[in-house]
Amino acid sequence: MKLMKLSDLGLKEGINEVIGITHGVLSVESGEFNLNAAPLGLIVGDESGIDAEVRLYSNHTRENFERSGELWVNVIHDPVLFVISAFEDPGREWYESLQPPILKGALTVCRFSGKLEKGGRGRVIKLRLEEGKVLKREIRAVNRGFNLLIEALIYATRLHLNPNYASRILELEKIIEKCGGKREKEALLLLKEYIKHQG
Ligand SMILES: Cc1cc2nc3c(=O)[nH]c(=O)nc-3n(C[C@H](O)[C@H](O)[C@H](O)COP(=O)(O)O)c2cc1C
Repeated sequence: MKLMKLSDLGLKEGINEVIGITHGVLSVESGEFNLNAAPLGLIVGDESGIDAEVRLYSNHTRENFERSGELWVNVIHDPVLFVISAFEDPGREWYESLQPPILKGALTVCRFSGKLEKGGRGRVIKLRLEEGKVLKREIRAVNRGFNLLIEALIYATRLHLNPNYASRILELEKIIEKCGGKREKEALLLLKEYIKHQG
C-alpha cells in the first residue's frame, strides 16, 4: 500500500458512506484481534488532501479507535454488507483479507490514524490518511434503490431513539423494491429482519 490522496481512493468532498473497520480485543480462541465493522460517514473537505473527519457516537468503533488510534476504511457498494455491519460484525467468511481488513467486494481499502481529542469539537475526530490501495474499479450509474437502502438503514440504526422512523423506512421500501436490484432487495429483507422486534 502507498500514500495517496483521498480522491484516489474514491473519497470525495462531502460525506462518504463507507464501512469502517477497527480492531477489538484479542480473541483467546483464535489468537487474533476481533474485527469490528460498521457503516460510517467519513467527512471530507479537501479531497486532494489526506485529512478527513468522522463523528463517532458511543459504539464499538469509537471504543476500539480510542484504544488503537487506527481506523481502516473500505469503500464498497454491497448493500448486504452495509446492513450486516450496521447490526453486527460480519464473520471472517465476509472478508477477502484480514490483514489488511478487506471485505469481499471492496473497491478500496485505506488506513487512517487519529486521536480522540478530549474536550474537542463534540465527537468529531480528525483523521489522517496513512496508506491506501485501489482494489477494483467499478463503473456504475446512480441507483435510487441503493441510495435509499442506505437512507433506510440510517433510520433503522436510530429506530431505538425514535420509533416514528419506522414509517419513513416503510415509505422508502417501495422505491427500494422498484429501483433496486437483487442485492438491494436482499439487503432490504435483511434490514426488516433485524428491526422486526423494534419500533
Ligand atoms: C450509512 C450509515 C452511516 C453511519 N455513520 C455513522 C457515523 O458517522 N458515526 C457513527 O458513530 N455511527 C454511524 N452510523 C451508525 C453505526 O454504523 C451503527 O451505530 C453501528 O451499529 C455501530 O457499530 P459498532 O458498535 O460495531 O461500532 C451509520 C450508520 C449508517 C447506516
